[in-house]
Amino acid sequence: MKCSAVLKSEVKVKWDALAVGFFEGEKESLNALGKLDRDLKDLIDSVFQAKKFEGKDRELFFTYLPGLKSACAVYFAGLGKKENYNPEKLKGLVSRLLKHAEAQKFNSLALDLKTVAPGKVSSHDLGRAVEEARVLSTFRFDKYKSKPDKRKELKGLDLLCGDALERKDVQSGIRFGKWVAEATNIARTLASEPANHLTPKVLASRAEELAKEAGLKCTILNEIEIKKLNMGGLIGVAQGSHEPPRFIVLETKVDNKSQKPVVLVGKGITFDSGGISLKPANGMEKMKYDMSGAAAVIATLWLAAKLDLPFKVIGLAPACENLPSERPQRPGDIVTISNGKTVEVINTDAEGRMILADGLSYAVKLGPRYIIDLATLTGSCRATFGEHAIGMMGNNRSLLDSLKDAGEKSGERCWELPLWDEYREHIKGEFADLKNVGKGPAGAIIAGKFLEEFVDKQPWAHLDIASTGWFDENHAYISRGPSGAGVRILAQFLKDLA
Ligand code: BES
Ligand code: MN
Ligand code: ZN
Repeated sequence: MKCSAVLKSEVKVKWDALAVGFFEGEKESLNALGKLDRDLKDLIDSVFQAKKFEGKDRELFFTYLPGLKSACAVYFAGLGKKENYNPEKLKGLVSRLLKHAEAQKFNSLALDLKTVAPGKVSSHDLGRAVEEARVLSTFRFDKYKSKPDKRKELKGLDLLCGDALERKDVQSGIRFGKWVAEATNIARTLASEPANHLTPKVLASRAEELAKEAGLKCTILNEIEIKKLNMGGLIGVAQGSHEPPRFIVLETKVDNKSQKPVVLVGKGITFDSGGISLKPANGMEKMKYDMSGAAAVIATLWLAAKLDLPFKVIGLAPACENLPSERPQRPGDIVTISNGKTVEVINTDAEGRMILADGLSYAVKLGPRYIIDLATLTGSCRATFGEHAIGMMGNNRSLLDSLKDAGEKSGERCWELPLWDEYREHIKGEFADLKNVGKGPAGAIIAGKFLEEFVDKQPWAHLDIASTGWFDENHAYISRGPSGAGVRILAQFLKDLA
């Protein structure tokens, strides 16, 4: 399917359907349509009069309309109250429209952009929102089905623009939205892969392939090199599995000596059973997504290569499996992280912070401008936010503010949790420098507090995506399953930074 921006005045085709948006109780869209198809006016008048359609949020009125010049059928899409309408609602609307149109076996659909535009949103952002929603909502992961469901996808989605300038902006928005959504879908695919197919080695080779395609530098450290770097956190977690660990390094090919790199670090646990501190069976199959942080980092680097950023971005992803076996890590074991700090492993299920400790220590050595880590780190974050906000922590106000803003703009919101001194008591070591878990609640914060020990006061933010990384239910334009969390907020953050 292709999404194009077309001039309303230059339309030559007749679409299968034309979609027009209406705010609650307002027929304003009539003016926008005016020249396109006068016959619509009567229909609009009569459905409003008969109260068959009122423009309520998520309301969708559909009818075939023989005799119309521009299309065979029309959609009236309810946008709700003007003051509550925003780009996220538009994305949901696009997803619902596409589903409906696909069920009608339509080939072509036109959307009158002006009638669905939230106030204060640029034409660029409008094109971007529609295209993002289209690419995200048509994602499927059915490669392991011997007979995937047959689908008859729409061939073209035309976005109607008022003038040439608007059209150009919409086009550039489409291009950006497509990249962001494709990167998100890369992350969704990686996180959807089952752990028997996506081992740490396979994850590393996927990163290599994507790097080649996008034009990134890629270095994969194997278990021998990992040992040489004394990454005791990663080695300790990996030791319970026959699958060896990998440490993935991706870099954009930007040579700017005057600007320090932005370093992203992602948790790459390809399966988290908990290890000796075994998880309950119920829902454990979801733990294949415990590499969602790594997936987001890899996908964001793929995207960063396309964005032509004026600074370097480096992506790091420690990757291994967390399994019990005949030679696993034990509770009580003490390991040394690559920065020299020692940790007593109280609970082998708190493995993410162990491998991130090595990832963050590596990031510090790169002389970063910012370090941002992403991890499906704690059940506590999911319990706190459900599936609607990323848990954010960090030590740098301007970085946190930028991320919060990027979250609002991208539709991937994050919310800050405090890293007050009092929480450090929980992870103070008894037999080593630190313990990997503390007593009591506040799990997401204590995990963040643990990570803070490894950033050496560099500007850093931690994004706990255990909350948003997996959707148990379909969301407005992202279906059930791994959601590709982190890619959209990082894309926005990098774009704004540039
Ligand atoms: N990968 C899990 C976190 C998780 C749990 C993500 C549920 C998504 C849904 C992480 O490795 C983990 O097991 N964390 C423990 C930490 C605890 C042992 C201190 C948790 O949150 O229960
Ligand atoms: Mn765990
Ligand atoms: Zn985990």
